[in-house]
Amino acid sequence: MKVESLYLINFRNYEKLDIQFSDFLNIFYGKNGSGKTNLIEAIYLLSLTKSFRISNDKSLIRKGNIKSKVKGEILKKDDLSNYSVILSKDGKSVEINDQKVDKISDYVSKINIILFSPFDTRLIDAPPMDRRKLLNIEISQLFKEYLIVLSNYEKILKQRNFYLRSMYINGNNDIEYLNILTKKLIEYGLVIYKYRASFCDNINSYITEIFKSIFNSGELKLKYISSYKNKTENMLLKSYQKNYAKEMEIGKTILGIHHDDLEFILDNNNLKEWGSEGQRKNAIISFKLAELNVIYQQKKYYPILILDDLFSELDKEKIMNILKLLNDKVQTFITTTEVNKIEKKIIKKAKIFKVENGTIKEDLYE
Ligand SMILES: Nc1ncnc2c1ncn2[C@@H]1O[C@H](COP(=O)(O)OP(=O)(O)O)[C@@H](O)[C@H]1O
Ligand SMILES: [Mg+2]
Repeated sequence: MKVESLYLINFRNYEKLDIQFSDFLNIFYGKNGSGKTNLIEAIYLLSLTKSFRISNDKSLIRKGNIKSKVKGEILKKDDLSNYSVILSKDGKSVEINDQKVDKISDYVSKINIILFSPFDTRLIDAPPMDRRKLLNIEISQLFKEYLIVLSNYEKILKQRNFYLRSMYINGNNDIEYLNILTKKLIEYGLVIYKYRASFCDNINSYITEIFKSIFNSGELKLKYISSYKNKTENMLLKSYQKNYAKEMEIGKTILGIHHDDLEFILDNNNLKEWGSEGQRKNAIISFKLAELNVIYQQKKYYPILILDDLFSELDKEKIMNILKLLNDKVQTFITTTEVNKIEKKIIKKAKIFKVENGTIKEDLYE
């Protein structure tokens, strides 16, 4: 999968931009605050219709304007199509080949993207919710059904919590209805569980090797933690029923995939409790790179890879190991303030862009 070109109107600090990319490596360099992350944020938005930095789309619109457009030409196997995300103060709309797509879920699984940004280095220390979010973003790119089931699960969970509270407050004891909600929750939860478990298994078939080949040390494994592990529907129903009284008291659902978590295990040690900052960062980088293979295995093409400011996080040797691993197969976007950290022979193969105050110029390196 390749982004052939990108077209921006009033996005962040870009008034207008029309740019063609290389199918292999694209390097954007420039001072802090010049617009490097804004550019890759536009590519991310085009894929997932959301920013990775902020939840309020409105700040993506260039100051003083009311509308913003990001459009890209995407090559997927033999298909060349254009995708657009249009932001305005009334909301967001998406288009494929200039035709409006009504459901966001019909849009988001189309352009596959993997992003590593300095934000991600905190993922191992972050609350479990952030790691579940990571799983959700990645799996929903692979399977359209996942996002739909997840939203069904969340709806039932809300309903169930509301009902638990009302049972407690009103002294209502219609257990039959609670059973119905619980069974529905288990049904959706098990679907989510299976997607997550299989995704983590797939990550595990690559991550150890990748970690070793970049960092030359240690056995890294991903561990998926879930209360649904090895449980059938009946076993789960019984576990829920054991908790009914307590759940009514606290008005919350105790068990379920909304408490799932991920652990990163290096040489049998949980990095959250024990790892150094560097090891945690390296584990996340390896996770992201393992995903390239997981997506390839599923879709038979590689996703787009974005590495934002990675070079400020790693030394030259590790960067070269990563670029070697990508081996011309993956279209990659790299932003950096230090273009001299990249070896000449890599530079020669890449398209280099200089970013300055919301303008981008291609550099012709000799
Ligand atoms: N909505 C917006 N309108 C205009 N400029 C913006 C908007 N949002 C961010 N900016 C500007 O973008 C710049 C930050 O760009 P960014 O891509 O994060 O920099 P970097 O090159 O360091 O990654 C800042 O100068 C900021 O003022
Ligand atoms: Mg930046």
